[in-house]
Amino acid sequence: MAPPDVQARVAALRREIERHNHAYYVLDRPTVPDAEYDRLFRELQVLEAEYPELVTPDSPTRRVGGRPLDEFPKVRHAVPMLSIRTETDTEASGAQAFDARVRKELGLAAGDPPVEYAAELKFDGLAINLRYEHGVLVAAATRGDGETGEDVTQNMRTVHAVPLRLKTAHSPVVLEVRGEVFMRRDDFERYNAKQREAGRPTLVNPRNGAAGSIRQLDPAVAAQRPLSFFAYGLGEVQGWRDAPATHSATLDALVELGVPVSTERRVCRGAQALIAFHDDIAARRDQLPFDIDGVVYKVNRFTLQHELGFVTREPRWAVAHKFPAQEELTVVEAIEVQVGRTGALTPVARLAPVFVGGVTVTNATLHNQDEIDRKDVRVGDTVIVRRAGDVIPEVVAVVADRRPQPAPPRFDILQSYPVCPECGSHVVRLEGEAAVRCTGGLYCPAQRKQALLHFAGRRAMDIEGLGDKLVDQLVDRGLVHTPADVYDLDLETLAGLERMAEKSATNLLAAIVASKATTLARFIFALGIRNVGETTAKDLARHFGSLDKLIAASETDLLAVRDVGPIVAQSIAQFFGEPHNLAVVGKLRAAGVHWPESAGTQQSAGVLAGKTLVLTGTLPTLTRDAAKEKIEAAGGKVAGSVSKKTDYVVAGAETGSKLAKAQELGVAILDEAGLLALLEKD
Ligand code: IVH
Repeated sequence: MAPPDVQARVAALRREIERHNHAYYVLDRPTVPDAEYDRLFRELQVLEAEYPELVTPDSPTRRVGGRPLDEFPKVRHAVPMLSIRTETDTEASGAQAFDARVRKELGLAAGDPPVEYAAELKFDGLAINLRYEHGVLVAAATRGDGETGEDVTQNMRTVHAVPLRLKTAHSPVVLEVRGEVFMRRDDFERYNAKQREAGRPTLVNPRNGAAGSIRQLDPAVAAQRPLSFFAYGLGEVQGWRDAPATHSATLDALVELGVPVSTERRVCRGAQALIAFHDDIAARRDQLPFDIDGVVYKVNRFTLQHELGFVTREPRWAVAHKFPAQEELTVVEAIEVQVGRTGALTPVARLAPVFVGGVTVTNATLHNQDEIDRKDVRVGDTVIVRRAGDVIPEVVAVVADRRPQPAPPRFDILQSYPVCPECGSHVVRLEGEAAVRCTGGLYCPAQRKQALLHFAGRRAMDIEGLGDKLVDQLVDRGLVHTPADVYDLDLETLAGLERMAEKSATNLLAAIVASKATTLARFIFALGIRNVGETTAKDLARHFGSLDKLIAASETDLLAVRDVGPIVAQSIAQFFGEPHNLAVVGKLRAAGVHWPESAGTQQSAGVLAGKTLVLTGTLPTLTRDAAKEKIEAAGGKVAGSVSKKTDYVVAGAETGSKLAKAQELGVAILDEAGLLALLEKD
């Protein structure tokens, strides 16, 4: 027998773990860090291993584990699981027709008060019946044919949002909770990303993800899948004190019992209120964290539900008012590419027109070559297209058995587009990159806008006033093809643009002229060479000292620059290897863009070349590492102790013996400002 203190501890741990579970999975308000949760969980596991007699079916440790099954046992539902009639009319009139039918069946006259409804979401997952006996989850089943379902208890236990025990001291003898198990979109994306990384198969969509996971015979596999649950009704009920009299109050009561219920629900009086709910949800559909395929209206009062009864297997008191589908089937007629603002060639499927997500879709993104390979999309394939909200439509999956025979060839971007369709420059796929890119850079029209904005940016050429609205106009009207053309703009042209007045045009022109005097580092950064950020641009400027030396540098020369690796070296060499880019650089110089040049540090190695410095005390702004890095970048060495060979001691606050030693030896002493001033000369 376990000692009483262990029994008490086990009970306390279970209560606490389930409380955190509820906060995290149901309320979406985590109460403790994951590490603390894991610690509690492990403690409980250890105690249960030591005292197996303490294990109960509602222990949180029982959410995982369990043996793989050969097949799911069948279970007969105590109360049949019905389906609901679908209102095919997706317009507002769908709600009116339902209300009119209900009023007629109830024998209400036009002057009688409005009927009260519970309006809620129609979740897109799998219907589940959870059976609680005396407050403990004892069984979970799928709907099956409505009479008989499959026993998926082991798998449903792995769904953390499902309470293993109801939160009440007065549990009903039997309480069957019905609802939908589903997968949130973010969980779906995260899960698929992980699968892709591991080279394992991905889920087609959240709905299949949820249904497939629950119908997994191995509960260990199901436990890996991130599932959620929302309740929307009841099955068998026995001995429930104060059982509510309406549907909405029932859902409120379930919330009190710790069962997850969506907050997106409303009590509506009459058809107009149903329409308002429908329209509100339809407008926010894409902001919800999970997929829905419509809304559901239910007559709220149970006595009225009984009065209305059923036709065949569908209740007269409920209806599903569907939204336009977000996924449809269509055929890929061609695969083409679009050049984006960063030069990436994005493959696009041209589709046989299909009505999906409320509009007719004829194009869908295929993202990149990896995605095409993974989904194996080919011209002629029948595919599932998804369009949710304003998101660009995408090809979700190929319907394998509808592929034409003989099978069309695989699509390869590099093979089909060896040069950029916009500008004819070479197209490359860099190692480790998903995207195929146009090397046209500044010359490629599709990349001009982005390049121009970057060029004019505060940390690049710093042309104030050249924002995206202006850049759009300049490029769209063909006034600017490359950043060099900016320096040809005159007052008259600028003043003639939309949103430009004489004064703003004058200011912009002044900014353009002022930008001609720049630094080599800014100029290199402004060119927008892939993988060359501000810091790399500075390193390159310092190393080579002149633009011509940089242009002439081979990949090996480039690798000698601090922090320049093979990918960066390749990007730079490729950029200056493209004649169009060289032409733009030439034109910029001809327009008068200039900067001071130097010999560079590859020969003269910086102001601190050959010098030894010692750091002591706390510097006001620089950390020790940062100071060391700066000194080394300027060619200096940092030593640990002061000697006659020390050139400078850099002293901060709270120094000790090193400063005294320096004074004794007559070594030059600098403070941080002095050091920075010295480095400035570099
Ligand atoms: S009520 C007697 N409410 O839609 C009424 N069903 O055919 C029983 N569903 O398979 C269902 N959200 O899985 C109800 N808020 C909701 C729902 C909902 C989704 C599913 C359910 C069922 C189908 C209805």
